Amino acid sequence: MFTVGLVQFCPVRYDVRANVATVERLLAGVRADLLVLPELANSGYMVATAADLDPYAELGDGSGPFLSALRQLAARTGGVIVTGFAERGRAGLYNSAAAVDADRVLQVYRKTHLFQDEQDPFLPGDTGFRIFEHRGARIGMMVCFDWFFPEAARTLALRGAQVIAHPANLVLPWCQTGMVTRCLENAVFAITTNRYGTETLNGKSLTFTGASQILDTKGRRLAQADVEGDAVLLCEIDPTAADDKRIGTRNDLFGDRRPGMYFDR
Ligand code: ACM
Repeated sequence: MFTVGLVQFCPVRYDVRANVATVERLLAGVRADLLVLPELANSGYMVATAADLDPYAELGDGSGPFLSALRQLAARTGGVIVTGFAERGRAGLYNSAAAVDADRVLQVYRKTHLFQDEQDPFLPGDTGFRIFEHRGARIGMMVCFDWFFPEAARTLALRGAQVIAHPANLVLPWCQTGMVTRCLENAVFAITTNRYGTETLNGKSLTFTGASQILDTKGRRLAQADVEGDAVLLCEIDPTAADDKRIGTRNDLFGDRRPGMYFDR
């Protein structure tokens, strides 16, 4: 079995040190193969410009304060930690997710579908949807609003993902139910870790919807956090359940696909 967990909290904008301290407190004594933190867990969400955010962004190589603290934490939790973070790339800033273990950054994913005002500070992601392996489980990452584009989860599933790690800062009300379909139609597990709380910038406020969740390959909710409040929820899963794409006796979710019938651009 494979232990997965969500780590819901309320990141403080522009306070990397406070956010590290919160995650350290929440994960004290926790052991898990895969833990998922929210989107932009190092920096907070609302920013006007890339210049405002840049001091809190860091490289995807794991050398910065947030990812290096998470690597040390991963040594204690005994597995991989997936987190959203503001990434400083060569061309500019990205709204990214990183998978880290005690030794290194296993993979960085740059958010493909930027939501609303994210399009000001961040560049659109250029990594595409890829898979990494940990203890025999195949894991793929997507970030928040990517869920609204079925192609994101589908691409990860077609590339072999058994588990989707999904850091989020959700403000619209549909993801927690929408992801039920993403899991069902791809027969994958998903861990959507959302944040909670409200941020305000230049007179505009956003309230994040919490209710982080772990779903199985039939879209069943194995665990769900409250709308508000810190939460660490763990589940035991068998990732190989995601290798069975059969529906009843005569259908197969992937075998029955007919790409020639689909509009593909
Ligand atoms: C979102 O993509 N943070 C809504």
